[in-house]
Amino acid sequence: MERRTIGAAALSVGAVGLGCMPMSWAYSTSRQHGGDSLRAVHRALDLGATLLDTADMYGPFTNELLLGRVLRQRRGDAFVSTKVGLLVGDQHIVANGRPGYVRRACDASLRRLQTDVIDLYQLHRADPEIPVEETWGAMAELVRAGKVRALGFCAVGARSARRPGARLYDATVRQLERVQQVFPVSAVEAELSVWSPQAREALLPWCAARGVGFLAAMPLGNGFLTGTLTPGEGFEADDLRARHPRFTAEMMAANQPIVAGLRRVARRHGEDVTPAQVALAWVLAQGGQVVPVPGAKRERWVAENAGAADLRLTEADLAEIAELPAAQGSWD
Ligand SMILES: NC(=O)c1ccc[n+]([C@@H]2O[C@H](COP(=O)([O-])OP(=O)(O)OC[C@H]3O[C@@H](n4cnc5c(N)ncnc54)[C@H](OP(=O)(O)O)[C@@H]3O)[C@@H](O)[C@H]2O)c1
Repeated sequence: MERRTIGAAALSVGAVGLGCMPMSWAYSTSRQHGGDSLRAVHRALDLGATLLDTADMYGPFTNELLLGRVLRQRRGDAFVSTKVGLLVGDQHIVANGRPGYVRRACDASLRRLQTDVIDLYQLHRADPEIPVEETWGAMAELVRAGKVRALGFCAVGARSARRPGARLYDATVRQLERVQQVFPVSAVEAELSVWSPQAREALLPWCAARGVGFLAAMPLGNGFLTGTLTPGEGFEADDLRARHPRFTAEMMAANQPIVAGLRRVARRHGEDVTPAQVALAWVLAQGGQVVPVPGAKRERWVAENAGAADLRLTEADLAEIAELPAAQGSWD
């Protein structure tokens, strides 16, 4: 697989990564099976999809434990990205950016992951109670201590943290400027996909100008862009899509022209090419520092998604995708 370089620490990874979240978090628990997930992770590594994106709060903790079972055998094949800063309670999730907590959380992640170094340690959410420089400073100490190789900053929560009237990533960029004064940012992780392209204008230029890598979260639109979901079929109550405004039967039907467009482009590239691969190739085309981390817990999807690294969209393909209607239904 093509390799891409991430950020200040010049870390090399496969162009397509693997989002491990659906194996343990956010999607229907009844469809999570440890054996399938382990096979999926091994398959990703076999195919050169080296970047495994996890977080201590996925599960919580079980996703890192699962990856640890692979890493103790194949640490050299993998690039491990995990996250700190969110605590999961019974009914709520809270940010914790206190330096002492960050140090303890890192040691715990290292134990669960069965490794002595984390390749990319990401701040999952900035804690509104703690100056972000303090949290980032504690993370920088972990690099100096050799427990972490590089630091990343997640901007996925920007939508919910935004003040009324503010543009989506304005506050994120201000925070990035602040932490960059303390220690170099190697990667930013934010949602980027055909139906949620905002980061392209609002965050990617900041990253490109500073040689910062970009991890594209939710590059498949939480599965919608793959064309495998049927409007009206519904989701189990513990699946994030059961409450997502774009996943009502009405909005899924209204957004079908986007999937149809991806399918048209896919057909031009061959009978075996899928809308999911076109959606990922579109993300890859947004810049040489962009690495999509499609979430998947089945070998079949992992192999299909890895195949997107070989798909080169033409100018005509990109122009056609640019003309697709904007997605209907939003969190706003
Ligand atoms: N930093 C943050 O705060 C943050 C927030 C959200 C996400 N993320 C990261 O981004 C990653 C990706 O986001 P995501 O997993 O929510 O969304 P996604 O990658 O857009 O979509 C994942 C969904 O697509 C399905 N899928 C994957 N490949 C497929 C294929 N080829 N054909 C059909 N269906 C396919 C998966 O099904 P199966 O599960 O059945 O395999 C899963 O339901 C996460 O795993 C996580 O690492 C980070």
